[in-house]
Amino acid sequence: MHCESEETGMEKNAYKILLFNYYRDAELRGADLILRLINLAENQNIQEKLARHLADATNHAWLWTERILALGGEPIRIDNGYHRQLRRKAGLPANFLDLLALTCVVAERAHNRYAEHAARSDVAPETLKVLHEMQADEKTHLTWIMEKIAELEAKEGKEKVDAALRHYREIEAAVFADMQQEEQRALAQVGPDETV
Ligand SMILES: [Fe+2]
Repeated sequence: MHCESEETGMEKNAYKILLFNYYRDAELRGADLILRLINLAENQNIQEKLARHLADATNHAWLWTERILALGGEPIRIDNGYHRQLRRKAGLPANFLDLLALTCVVAERAHNRYAEHAARSDVAPETLKVLHEMQADEKTHLTWIMEKIAELEAKEGKEKVDAALRHYREIEAAVFADMQQEEQRALAQVGPDETV
């Protein structure tokens, strides 16, 4: 096992390039959810947090794009990624509480996925830097989301808010499990996971 070098070449880095394309896709579609929240959000305080969150999500998509390019790859559109499947199963929430609950679940997953990746023993320093930066951002996102959720609990009732979170957590867990299988199949086709 060795660390990833900045050596470029489509074939050698095909696994990383595809995996980072999945991460990039999840960030871009996550940004789409935030844009929708911006349209539904009522007060200024939350508009500031949402603007920050949107800027971070698009920055994350750009950082993955840069990693893909540095490895000699190309950013591609992912047709059957995580968010597409999520949209199919969960629909598109039309109210603020449901959209926030979905965003919360998605942010938890992003944070955990990046933490899991960063904990691997063979991660290249360039990738690790990006992962750490994103993990810190995801943590900030979860902090404001949890604050807003607590506010909604006080206003609309804990039961209602808990039910929304439970609903989206269940759907997301099933979608993530399916997607991981799908991703593993696609990644297996491009070669072994040696240097991620
Ligand atoms: Fe992100």
